[in-house]
Amino acid sequence: MSQLPLIELRKVVKVYSSEAGDFTALRGVDLSIQQGEFLGIVGKSGAGKSTLLNMLTGVDHATSGEVTVRAGSEVSIHKLDEDALALWRGQTMGVVYQSFQLLPMLTLLENVMLPMDLCGLYSARKSRERAMELLRLVEIDEHAKKLPAFISGGQQQRVAIARALANDPAILVADEPTGSLDSVTADHIFDVFEKLVAAGKTIVMVTHDSGLTPRFSRHLVIADGEIVSERIERLTVGASDEAGQKKADEKQIKQQETDHRQEDQAPVEEELQQESGPILRAWPKEKKEKKKDKKEKKDDKKKSGKKKEKR
Ligand SMILES: Nc1ncnc2c1ncn2[C@@H]1O[C@H](COP(=O)(O)OP(=O)(O)OP(=O)(O)O)[C@@H](O)[C@H]1O
Ligand SMILES: [Mg+2]
Repeated sequence: MSQLPLIELRKVVKVYSSEAGDFTALRGVDLSIQQGEFLGIVGKSGAGKSTLLNMLTGVDHATSGEVTVRAGSEVSIHKLDEDALALWRGQTMGVVYQSFQLLPMLTLLENVMLPMDLCGLYSARKSRERAMELLRLVEIDEHAKKLPAFISGGQQQRVAIARALANDPAILVADEPTGSLDSVTADHIFDVFEKLVAAGKTIVMVTHDSGLTPRFSRHLVIADGEIVSERIERLTVGASDEAGQKKADEKQIKQQETDHRQEDQAPVEEELQQESGPILRAWPKEKKEKKKDKKEKKDDKKKSGKKKEKR
């Protein structure tokens, strides 16, 4: 007997209404996520990735369709009121928001303690200890007593990840959680995620970077509010030349992913340059490498000086 999905979206539509008119951000998304998956949702800016995550966390309401989560008991998110939803989310899901959403008047440590204090799963002493452990896990513990305004964007992102793990949730939902990180730090965060998945957690992660897809256990491509890869797979079923059709479809997805990469390259490099300053300063491993580089350059200078003296 096949297991029922942990998270199930059925025909989810999201229409944003504003003075400028209606905009359909999700066009009837069907999606099943099994327990233990590390699912990547990949797509260009504006494709509907954050909107999709907001549907499965219940942060925002779908215009129509159903969202069911079976973590412990079965919950129909679209039927819960705000208070019940907030409590359920706090105990079931850790959410890393694209814009971090740290509370500016709380220290990093207090930000991570907050979900534990709200849900009451840990004693005050235990919640402080656990928050410190989580900050250590994302290698930001040395700044624990600072306010968010006094650390870099990449460092804030790591605090947001620590906070999402606070209540040891069964499901982690992360919106571009490595978007502000240099490659070494991002790699470390992926290692942390992979360990969580190995321990039985389920992770749904959004990214615009198609280069990250090999690290997921499964990935989907979303474009213009639709899951493109699933739609293409469905279209190929029963086709007369199934293999040939599938090849053509894979080529189409690859091309789409290449387009994303080319589009994304410039801003990512720019971001990296902007971020590398503060991040590298807070990163002991990088510090050591920089020091080593400096020392090697000094040694080279000394050697060439000696050579000149000899002549
Ligand atoms: N509150 C809103 N009101 C109106 N339109 C919105 C609103 N939020 C998002 N949209 C529109 O819905 C579409 C999907 O937005 P969404 O934030 O889900 O994209 P995304 O894939 O997460 O993009 P990015 O990679 O830039 O974060 C976009 O065209 C966006 O302009
Ligand atoms: Mg987004």
